[in-house]
Amino acid sequence: MFSKIIYVTLFFYLAPNGTTPIQINYIKVPVAVKNDSKSAVVMDCNYSLRPDDADLVVKWYLNDDLVYQWIPPQSPQSFGALKNKVDLAYRATHDTKTVYRAMKIINPVAGMAGEYKCFVSTFTDEDFAVKTMKIFVPERSLDIFQGTSDENIVNFTCLASDVFPTPKLLMYRSYEEEHYRNRLQTVERDISKHQSGRYSLFIVASALRETLIPGSIIRCELRIPGTGYVKIKSLLYYPEGDIPTICESTTIAYVTALWIFSSAVFSNKYS
Ligand SMILES: *[C@@H]1O[C@H](CO)[C@@H](O)[C@H](O)[C@H]1NC(C)=O
Ligand SMILES: *[C@@H]1O[C@H](CO)[C@@H](O)[C@H](O)[C@H]1NC(C)=O
Ligand SMILES: *[C@@H]1O[C@H](CO)[C@@H](O)[C@H](O)[C@H]1NC(C)=O
Repeated sequence: MFSKIIYVTLFFYLAPNGTTPIQINYIKVPVAVKNDSKSAVVMDCNYSLRPDDADLVVKWYLNDDLVYQWIPPQSPQSFGALKNKVDLAYRATHDTKTVYRAMKIINPVAGMAGEYKCFVSTFTDEDFAVKTMKIFVPERSLDIFQGTSDENIVNFTCLASDVFPTPKLLMYRSYEEEHYRNRLQTVERDISKHQSGRYSLFIVASALRETLIPGSIIRCELRIPGTGYVKIKSLLYYPEGDIPTICESTTIAYVTALWIFSSAVFSNKYS
């Protein structure tokens, strides 16, 4: 183990080009951010330089367009989609060779989604690293309701409005105690794009009536892929016409019982 370290070290010292190259240790880019949330995000680019490295240049690209550049000792600048959208006074460190390596975006909005590349170069070397950021807009509404049915099949509809980017909708049946979930077959779907760029969509999923127990939970799940955003809406299934009947009869039974009970008390006390 020890001899291996020495060997590796020697190898680098004796390598034809003479030295270990400039190296990006990691970059930090948020995976997903809500559109126009008014909270800043910091994209960091941590690199190691050799003490004698000269002509440092740090650049950030968004989808291959230059959006940020720092050439010490000059001040950093922002360009293109990020012009005037970056806090150019933000310091990632107190070290003159890394102080402005990070890019702080003041309020990320939809046009700033995509592939971020940090590119670092010196007189002799260069390195880069890439990560993707998504921007999303949560739905304005998500609704599930029981749709058309016949004696064999019950349809459920789930509707989501004003989401960005294109989300996925699916419905399933679950039984609370059994931790069981069962995907319902989607039989119809439709999606439309608004001028705002957001999407509204619905799906219809159907279940065999014989597989539905009154009180079964039907859930609709909305996901925005690649963002970790998930929203669930559910309803309790009752065969058509059952809900009012059950409520009514329970209410009537309760009131009747109460009346009988109070009249019994009354007659016991005062007769
Ligand atoms: C993102 O937010 C900006 C600023 O409010 C807005 O103009 C834009 O329409 C939003 N994008 C989407 C897809 O909703
Ligand atoms: C940069 O990365 C190195 C190696 O991962 C780490 O030791 C160092 O603390 C980091 N520096 C900063 C300022 O984040
Ligand atoms: C369920 O919905 C599908 C798609 O809209 C439709 O074709 C089908 O007739 C519906 N089934 C019933 C039983 O209403």
